[in-house]
Amino acid sequence: MKVEIIEHIPYHWLEEVINLAAEMIVIVDCQGIIKYINAAYCEFIGTTVEYAIGKHVNEVIENTRMHIVANTGQAELAAVQRINGSEMIANRLPLVVDGELVGALGTVMFRNPEEWRQYQSKIQSLVEELKYYKNRFEKESKYNFADLIGNSPAFLASKKLAERISSSHSSVLLLGESGTGKELFAHAIHNGSSRAAFPFVPINCASIPEHLLESELFGYEDGAFTGAKKGGKKGQFQAAHHGTIFLDEIGDMPLSMQSKLLRVLQEKEVQRIGSQKSIPVDVRVIAATHRDLEMMVQEGTFRQDLYYRLNVIKIEIPPLRKRTDDIPLISAGLLKKLERNFHRQNTVLSPEVIERLQEHKWPGNIRELENVLERAINVLDGKTIEIHHLPLYLRDQEVDYYIPKQQRMDIQVMPLKETIALVEKQAIHQALKVTDGNKLEAAKLLEIGKTSFYEKCKMYGI
Ligand SMILES: Nc1ncnc2c1ncn2[C@@H]1O[C@H](COP(=O)(O)OP(=O)(O)O)[C@@H](O)[C@H]1O
Ligand SMILES: [Mg+2]
Repeated sequence: MKVEIIEHIPYHWLEEVINLAAEMIVIVDCQGIIKYINAAYCEFIGTTVEYAIGKHVNEVIENTRMHIVANTGQAELAAVQRINGSEMIANRLPLVVDGELVGALGTVMFRNPEEWRQYQSKIQSLVEELKYYKNRFEKESKYNFADLIGNSPAFLASKKLAERISSSHSSVLLLGESGTGKELFAHAIHNGSSRAAFPFVPINCASIPEHLLESELFGYEDGAFTGAKKGGKKGQFQAAHHGTIFLDEIGDMPLSMQSKLLRVLQEKEVQRIGSQKSIPVDVRVIAATHRDLEMMVQEGTFRQDLYYRLNVIKIEIPPLRKRTDDIPLISAGLLKKLERNFHRQNTVLSPEVIERLQEHKWPGNIRELENVLERAINVLDGKTIEIHHLPLYLRDQEVDYYIPKQQRMDIQVMPLKETIALVEKQAIHQALKVTDGNKLEAAKLLEIGKTSFYEKCKMYGI
């Protein structure tokens, strides 16, 4: 079998094949006599092939162990060997032919530590690069302007502005109610910029506990506080280097953090917690909020200087109720996306449904529309979404019961009896005011009997 393979290669090629396979190579027999050594190796150790061949390896190569390996049959890989006052790294392999140890083969991997370091740093940068792409792939920012659906004038104006400024490096402030697509805009701006090949790092300022926000944004040094990870941690600003950081819900950032953020924006460098060293960062900031930042500035809950820093380019995204013409188009787009998850095709909205959707106020905007359509597709039997596939609050045209979750907490619901009692009490008070305290007149106004009136007054302590 071996013979067969070698027969296909002309014999005189072999030397070149060996030279290409290993830059520096030496072969000894079991006595340690050099049977073969290439010119590159000889040059490296300051000798010639003619001189070396036939000599004991000990006479030719400093500190060699080739004769030992040829004797023991034990391979020595990546062994450090001192030659010419420099440590080189060598591989020594026993040469076994037809099951018999016949000698040893030596190659030099790195001629000196510098070569090794260069190789190492090359590998290191490849590893870093791999890590970066892996990371980017995992939280890849994939939305583009084409994903921002809508043709209504107000929306198109915002979209055009965002497209125009995407190539700039200035800060962007995205304003709009919850669910209007602020995050989508941020992705599109990043991907439309020269930073698209670098990370897009989203941070939700409202969802990170105040005491963790600083280390999350700026990172920390080894031992900066108890529980700090060994070796410290890179902050998100550093992670976003050359890319974009998206500070979502910036209106919820505590004042103390606002000052620190301002410093980073001004100095373009970050300091990890527990470190005096400044790390330069090149990051574009896109901030977003549903809050009225100008009012917060007036109330003193948002720093004015930070507001000015962020507000270089302001983009307001209109709420869905101000762009009802876009509802059919957006719904169709959202249905396409949902259909993929539900293994459906060609789902449409009935004309009545479209009309109903256009009448709704959409406090939750496109996110709410998404939920409504997802629910509908869940209960859908055919291809057309009808009124009865909509959630109850949308089916009833007269009363719009929908209230965003945050506001629901403020509504108090009392037992019906108590509510009625409260209203009765109010009505009696009103009647008595009108009649200047005359109970008989008041009873008449309320169109109830005298006895019933007195009973109620007694009951309500009037
Ligand atoms: N113009 C749009 N076209 C299609 N889908 C949109 C659009 N705007 C927002 N969406 C979708 O609506 C949802 C809410 O958007 P998001 O960007 O998270 O809103 P916000 O950050 O303003 O609360 C997301 O699922 C997003 O994909
Ligand atoms: Mg959001």
